[in-house]
Amino acid sequence: MSEPVVVTHSCASYPVYVEPGLLTQLDAIAGEQLKDKRIAMIADAVVHQLYLQGRLGRVSWSGETLTVPPGESSKTRDTWARLSNQLLDRRFGRDSGLIGLGGGVTGDLTGFVAATYMRGLPYILVPTTLLAMVDASVGGKTGVNTPHGKNLIGAFHPPAAVLADPLTLATLPEREYRSGLAEAVKHGLIADPHYFDWLEAHTAEILSRESHVVAHLVRRSVAIKAEVVSQDEREAGRRAILNAGHTVAHALEQASQYELTHGEAVALGLIAECVIAEHIGAASKGLSQRVGNLLNRLGLSTRLPRPLDRSAVIRGMEMDKKNRGNSIHLALAARPGEMYRRTGWTTAVSEEDIRAGLAAVEVA
Ligand code: NAD
Ligand code: GLY
Repeated sequence: MSEPVVVTHSCASYPVYVEPGLLTQLDAIAGEQLKDKRIAMIADAVVHQLYLQGRLGRVSWSGETLTVPPGESSKTRDTWARLSNQLLDRRFGRDSGLIGLGGGVTGDLTGFVAATYMRGLPYILVPTTLLAMVDASVGGKTGVNTPHGKNLIGAFHPPAAVLADPLTLATLPEREYRSGLAEAVKHGLIADPHYFDWLEAHTAEILSRESHVVAHLVRRSVAIKAEVVSQDEREAGRRAILNAGHTVAHALEQASQYELTHGEAVALGLIAECVIAEHIGAASKGLSQRVGNLLNRLGLSTRLPRPLDRSAVIRGMEMDKKNRGNSIHLALAARPGEMYRRTGWTTAVSEEDIRAGLAAVEVA
């Protein structure tokens, strides 16, 4: 296998492998990473159908499997309880390990089951969406949504390893593939101007999923995220930059009743938050236009598909975990590759600023 990206955390470190064909060796790799454990796989039902039962049969896996219906509506305490109960019914003990196979929903759920089952089990993530490969599988944030908002119940619980096989992206629907690109744009915007330029220069190859271009994109994004989370595992400071665009995005997802995918909401959130940055003088004029152009060229919409109640979106933002006191705090970019940092990694913004940002992504 090629060299992994290594993520360090308070207790140890873990490898993130990005390699075409990796999943043909899953049984063997899981046996090494979760040595002497009784292993259960938690799999997205669509991915299970495609890769474990279907004609693709690319994943080598002979152990026990629990499935999760696809989509954000599965990321709940109910699903967490059902999965935990299924493990208890099957008498999985403390000497067990888990594998999460699927997108960010399955990964966040598997991680949260692993964090809580018998006070904590080791687990491996096997991301099969672009979004989960470039972002959700790295960094150890696990959790579920509640009617109050996204990711409000959860735990930091890093995986033992991440195995990303870009060959699985061949079956990913176009909409989901493009959704993942929003997180890649975020990585360029928050930490690496050269990567941002590279994304701008390779939109055609990215959209046609040219294998070496996709592999580079996944590796570069993973490396950026790994560097940030290795420095600040529990988000005491700089890790907040990974939330660029997300304060607006989470509120839009919730207000749209999850009609928007996470990545579509992140694209809109990045534009809205860049407009806010321009509005308060944190970024120079033109940043939101440049970010919007890139997202648009990557096939992401820069406007909401239908009107959403602006006050409901602001109420959603009020539940964000970065808020302090009564003010909404955003992680704002100053220019590609550089964050605005006058008062820290996040900046308090007013309701008027937020309304200006939301207006920029409303239905034309
Ligand atoms: P997802 O997990 O819902 O997957 C999207 C869809 O793709 C699903 O319908 C799934 O069945 C399908 N799918 C998955 N792999 C496939 C494949 N190879 N071929 C065909 N279909 C496939 O969504 P997502 O975009 O992967 O993840 C979004 C979630 O990730 C959100 O809940 C978000 O909050 C979370 N997230 C977490 C972190 C973190 O740090 N923990 C970071 C970013 C996002
Ligand atoms: N997606 C935000 C983070 O991982 O910190």
